[in-house]
Amino acid sequence: MLNLTSLESGYGETRVLHGVNLNIRKGSVHALLGRNGVGKSTMLKTIIGQLPVRHGRITFQNKDISALPSYAIARQGMAYVPETRDIFGALTVRENLQLASRLAASETSWSIEDTLAFFPNLAKRLNNGGHQLSGGEQQMLAIGRALMTDPSILILDEPTEGLAPIIIQQIFEKLSALKARGMTILLVEQNLHFALGLADDISLMSRGEIVWQGAPDDLANDAAAQSRWLGV
Ligand SMILES: Nc1ncnc2c1ncn2[C@@H]1O[C@H](COP(=O)(O)OP(=O)(O)OP(=O)(O)O)[C@@H](O)[C@H]1O
Ligand SMILES: [Mg+2]
Repeated sequence: MLNLTSLESGYGETRVLHGVNLNIRKGSVHALLGRNGVGKSTMLKTIIGQLPVRHGRITFQNKDISALPSYAIARQGMAYVPETRDIFGALTVRENLQLASRLAASETSWSIEDTLAFFPNLAKRLNNGGHQLSGGEQQMLAIGRALMTDPSILILDEPTEGLAPIIIQQIFEKLSALKARGMTILLVEQNLHFALGLADDISLMSRGEIVWQGAPDDLANDAAAQSRWLGV
């Protein structure tokens, strides 16, 4: 569904991605793991068009999107939830969701009602401002907003960061439910346990390159890879 070929990008003079090759299968959860600063977020920003492709190619649903601006990529069916979540603090939960539905590419299959049924915690907070939400509620709102654009792929940058274990478990259950519905998910994670439980495919990144690929069981049984690439 999403293919990266020899992908290079970076900031100014600094090259961060040094030829990334990656294939994300339709209907799969693909987890990208790696130590701090290896280029995981940079890869996501390049995929969604926030950073230009310097070399190589990105194809999404058999279409070359390497040179498209981010709004056009979003319209192709790609939804991105950044590490910062980027919800509108001054707007209510309802208004945040309404904005997302206006951005939807077509007749969206996720109405506000569907999203609230999926995230009952948000239904209770409908008239609260974004800034009044807990970290977990903000993450759920960010995911809910992404779903309302009716994406073919959901791209998440460290959705569990800074959240309490019980909230992480809730996010895990929601992403598992989306996976069961057939959603394709690209997940950047620091939480190895979370990634192992959710992913079909795992890639490890180091210094802007993919250095290991396999199934969750392969990684769970590969202490050397965990220690070398993740510092576990
Ligand atoms: N806006 C920026 N301008 C310049 N350099 C940047 C910028 N953002 C990130 N970098 C650098 O690019 C490299 C990769 O950063 P990136 O954020 O992609 O890493 P990451 O794998 O997501 O790390 P983390 O686990 O900490 O989120 C780092 O050396 C970082 O300092
Ligand atoms: Mg990052």
